[in-house]
Amino acid sequence: MSSKHERKVAIVGATGVAGQQFVAALQNHPWFRITTLAASERSANKSYGDALRAPNGAVRWYCDEEPSPAVLALPVKDAAHLDASDADIVFTAVESDAAREIEPRLAKHVPVFSTASAFRYEADVPIAVPGVNLEHLDLVETQRRDRGWKGFVVPLPNCTTMGMVVTLKPLLDAFGVKQVCMTSMQGLSGAGRSPGVAALDVLDNIIPYIVGEEEKVAKETGKILGRVQAGTIAPHGALVAATCTRANVREGHTEAVQVQLERETTLERVRATFAEFGREFCARNLPSAPRRMIILHDDPFRPQPRLDREADGGMATSVGRLRLDAAGLRYVLVSHNTKMGAAKGAVLTAEHMVDAGKI
Ligand SMILES: NC(=O)c1ccc[n+]([C@@H]2O[C@H](COP(=O)([O-])OP(=O)(O)OC[C@H]3O[C@@H](n4cnc5c(N)ncnc54)[C@H](OP(=O)(O)O)[C@@H]3O)[C@@H](O)[C@H]2O)c1
Repeated sequence: MSSKHERKVAIVGATGVAGQQFVAALQNHPWFRITTLAASERSANKSYGDALRAPNGAVRWYCDEEPSPAVLALPVKDAAHLDASDADIVFTAVESDAAREIEPRLAKHVPVFSTASAFRYEADVPIAVPGVNLEHLDLVETQRRDRGWKGFVVPLPNCTTMGMVVTLKPLLDAFGVKQVCMTSMQGLSGAGRSPGVAALDVLDNIIPYIVGEEEKVAKETGKILGRVQAGTIAPHGALVAATCTRANVREGHTEAVQVQLERETTLERVRATFAEFGREFCARNLPSAPRRMIILHDDPFRPQPRLDREADGGMATSVGRLRLDAAGLRYVLVSHNTKMGAAKGAVLTAEHMVDAGKI
């Protein structure tokens, strides 16, 4: 373990789908050590292993990586009464209503990296996307000053926004972006465990609506692609129209994207722009970073969630089906919703801030 970076971390919502991905991302981390787990009062005062066990004995563990015996033995605390002041960093993965209560209480003392939407739209809160808008993180100093906190809250975007902004950022910088039209086919794990998606509803089916998702994608994309100005973020004005659907896929969000660019270009230049994107960021070799931000596929049958969601540890966005014609630039992307789109993306953001000497 690197003593330069060693930090004690707490995970709040550790029993849920995104919380378990935090455990998987952090249990063998070279810089961070899990010292505290918390969830609702339903799980409190049990070991993590017991808290994962359903009344019928089934262990509700959803990650491909097994939890270590050391993590399974850790006690789970009640998040409502959690004192995280002995942790250096808190990662939260709870529903928005719970996050609104828990996160500011913890942020008084400790930096909080969140997967919840509770604070995403507040003026002094950046929505972090590693490799895309890390300069927005300077806003945490405004939070500290204006709210009197020692820590801060840094949320990640909605998991559906994530893959799309990773691809829009290089297009914006190179050619300008006027308008975006996106249809998602989202994985089941994106609905979380509670309430989750009923198997009988989704088997042999596509669900054509996800409550609140399309509005979140539009609003968050504008903010992430916007500019820091006078202690807040002026959103980018591109029109974003999303249709969000749930598909019968365990994990990974697939999105068909159509972009109207400001300036004319060629398919070759778009390819080169995607391939170049994030080189500098990836070269920093942060522990959870992908080797490439975007992986381009020539095979017209890629990307597919089953084949591509785990690319570069679930942290790269896979892009294929690139076409450019009078209808605009069109492509299909796959992004891992619980890794880059949630827990591991939050861990990477924290790694960046530690490495940059900001925490
Ligand atoms: N799943 C994804 O792909 C994804 C991606 C990006 C963002 N997110 C966001 O991440 C958050 C968690 O989502 P999820 O999918 O992991 O949900 P989930 O599977 O339903 O897990 C919810 C977690 O929150 C805990 N919890 C519930 N009520 C609580 C309370 N009142 N106080 C403290 N903890 C409470 C649960 O603990 P118990 O086990 O004790 O009930 C569980 O650990 C949400 O805000 C979601 O929007 C999820």
